[in-house]
Amino acid sequence: MTARAKMIVDKDYQVGQVDPRLYGSFIEHLGRAVYGGIYEPEHPSADDQGFRTDVMELVRQLNVPVVRYPGGNFVSGYNWEDAVGPLAERPRRLELAWRSTEPNHVGLNEFVDWCRKVNTSPMMAVNLGTRGADEARQLIEYSNHPSGSYWSDLRISHGYQQPHNIKTWCLGNEMDGPWQIGAKTAHEYGRIAAETAKVMRWVDPSIELVACGSSFLTMPTFPDWEATVLEHTYDHVDYISLHQYYGNRDQDSANFLAQSIGMDQFIHTVISTADFIQAKKRGKKKINLSFDEWNVWYHSNEADTHIEPWTVGPPQLEDVYNLEDALLVGCMLISMLKRADRIKMACLAQLVNVIAPIMTVNGGAAWKQTIYYPYLHASLFGRGTVLIPLIHSDKYDSKDYTDVPYLEAVAVHDEEADEVTIFAVNRSLTDSLSLQVDLRSFGSIRVHEHLVLEHDDLKATNTVNQPDQVTPHSGGNAVINNGTVEALLGKASWNVIRLKV
Ligand code: AHR
Repeated sequence: MTARAKMIVDKDYQVGQVDPRLYGSFIEHLGRAVYGGIYEPEHPSADDQGFRTDVMELVRQLNVPVVRYPGGNFVSGYNWEDAVGPLAERPRRLELAWRSTEPNHVGLNEFVDWCRKVNTSPMMAVNLGTRGADEARQLIEYSNHPSGSYWSDLRISHGYQQPHNIKTWCLGNEMDGPWQIGAKTAHEYGRIAAETAKVMRWVDPSIELVACGSSFLTMPTFPDWEATVLEHTYDHVDYISLHQYYGNRDQDSANFLAQSIGMDQFIHTVISTADFIQAKKRGKKKINLSFDEWNVWYHSNEADTHIEPWTVGPPQLEDVYNLEDALLVGCMLISMLKRADRIKMACLAQLVNVIAPIMTVNGGAAWKQTIYYPYLHASLFGRGTVLIPLIHSDKYDSKDYTDVPYLEAVAVHDEEADEVTIFAVNRSLTDSLSLQVDLRSFGSIRVHEHLVLEHDDLKATNTVNQPDQVTPHSGGNAVINNGTVEALLGKASWNVIRLKV
């Protein structure tokens, strides 16, 4: 049987402009993200700073605009001062969030250098777990103040004459979670976040600040947490964060692929809560969203219970992703694009080795996981204006969701490149999907390319020995008929239909 879906888009009916930072990512001092991931001085490809150039090349291809750093849970116990200045004087610390040893060979300055090398910008987090406003004002003085003060001159003495001018700062990480070092109630966090924001802006008024929202949709304190935190911080911050990971622990793929519907609800509720606080404050400012951790994460949960504690760079959170994971990642990207009017930043968590699109072998190769591809396509082709997707699709019910459309899709109009790109997932595990996209408002249009990521086996993965098991091909069958795109989307497939206007 063939499922059916119709989509209508009009170039004048717009969601909003895509902020390129929607395609951000994340590097935490966790597992082999830094040590053995981006940094491995003994690796044959390492540059003079010890950064792996093979990894850099794969990151550059993704065109990642912003990378969040240094955590994550890690940041809530971090002393940033440990990781600046002469390498030989840097202390080794017990890292309590992930029970490893942190050698501090990479810190703020090296990370900023790495960012420049891969054409990205850092998004820094400050420690509001064990520390607070004092540490944050010192860190921003060190990082962003030109010179003539204790902390800025210290940076200069470390060889960094120019300030880093880091623009975006996260006020802590997942402070609602009992697993967090120094977890807080919403009132406690709201107060410390507001006071920290205040002094950070006094040092550098040009920065943007992100307050911590809930760690995931089903946190018992959601969405009261957002309301209370924003009551305290509305005047001081620009964004509220969202984090969400999904898994297929029950091996119920139909239900697994429906989970981005939950993400839609999450986004909708956070926007509503932010707008409620704006109304309550009689404020002019909209608080936008930073979805600064999102991905599939569950494959490695069991293996991680056997990690030996207090080692440096253990293989932790090393999910090996399959095709269905890539499809859900595609659905999650579409969910965020559909609210590009309010989601201005997002970070695929994470970038290398730790729940990541890029994997490495210590001393060996770097390779691309299945999820690399939807992220790559969205980052390369999902720039411009998101058009409101009006969709009529056949639907199904799953364990946790009803009326799940087989088609998940959105269209982005890149006015500069004269291109429209349709991102579409067929969630059906058994049937192809007959898709029609009415694009009449564009007049004459032609299919440039129809990329497809698919595989007979939903559980197919890429590995170091078989890195090309699941890769996209350009053999999709989209055609134009009277201003309408017609395509038969294969069962369980990710599709990128690129049109030239
Ligand atoms: O990305 C892995 C972890 O997930 C982060 O450290 C934390 O913020 C979240 O719980």
